[in-house]
Amino acid sequence: MGDTRTVRVKVPATSANCGPGFDSLGFACTMYNEFSLKLTEKEGLEFEITGDGADAIPADEHNVVWRSARYLLEHTRFASVYKGGVITMHNIVPLSRGLGSSATAIVAGLKAANALIGNPFGRRDLLQFATRIEGHPDNVAPAIFGGFTVSTTYKGRAQTFSILPKLRLTFVAAVPDFTLPTKVAREVLPEMVTREDAIFNISRAAMLVAALLEGNAYFLRNSLYDAIHEPYRMKLIPGMQEVFYAAKKAGALGATLSGAGPTLMAYTLERERVAPAVADAMVAAFRRNGVRAKAHILSLDTRGASVLGGFL
Ligand code: HSE
Repeated sequence: MGDTRTVRVKVPATSANCGPGFDSLGFACTMYNEFSLKLTEKEGLEFEITGDGADAIPADEHNVVWRSARYLLEHTRFASVYKGGVITMHNIVPLSRGLGSSATAIVAGLKAANALIGNPFGRRDLLQFATRIEGHPDNVAPAIFGGFTVSTTYKGRAQTFSILPKLRLTFVAAVPDFTLPTKVAREVLPEMVTREDAIFNISRAAMLVAALLEGNAYFLRNSLYDAIHEPYRMKLIPGMQEVFYAAKKAGALGATLSGAGPTLMAYTLERERVAPAVADAMVAAFRRNGVRAKAHILSLDTRGASVLGGFL
């Protein structure tokens, strides 16, 4: 059969939870990692990894792009044909910061391998594979579909729908210069929440989705709050409360912990004047708390992971 050609894919960063939608809501934004994959008949892997955190990414069979590509191939007759590969990764999305960098690698491996064997799987199949690999759908779903996504899992099966909001949102991601492994950020969460906190979140998560669909900024502003994960994670992110306050004072609708953090994500309606002011205010508030941070002004990605310009 011979080795495959090389396919290039681009996968967006994602911000999970969106405040009240813990492990369910997420959106894709205009910051991208780029990957390429070639499958070879001969065993052995070659990597070229550049960009953010390149030294921390395994360049062997444990590499997430490779493991995800293999996972997909194992559901096909090609598993025994392609035993090796050549992978490039160019990372723009900061690693371990709550912007879905691991989801980009999972989705890239799946999307690229799928393209190389003639796209036998649709995006809904890729969602199942990606959710099984990642453990929850809230980052992989927007990375695959783009837009804001609402996801559920039932008996191990993920379901997602993607919304394009009626509001033109601009996001400000304030990314601290320290990493926070998701595992650590999940360990601080309680096993049980009170009924009051559950109602607080359910009502706001529902309102958030309605506000996006209706394009209602007032209700969006009132729904970007959480009672079941952000309060517990606050101690892991110096100045979190102050950064939220600074973002709102500078004109943001609200701000949330992005995924498991430490990135904080502000939502704004005006790109030219308000977003840069929010960015400066968030970085300054972090600085007052002894944290160096970099702000990125982003839009919603509406497309999700894509194959770039065919094959090489
Ligand atoms: N929903 C997850 C969490 C996102 O908050 O732990 C982590 O990727």
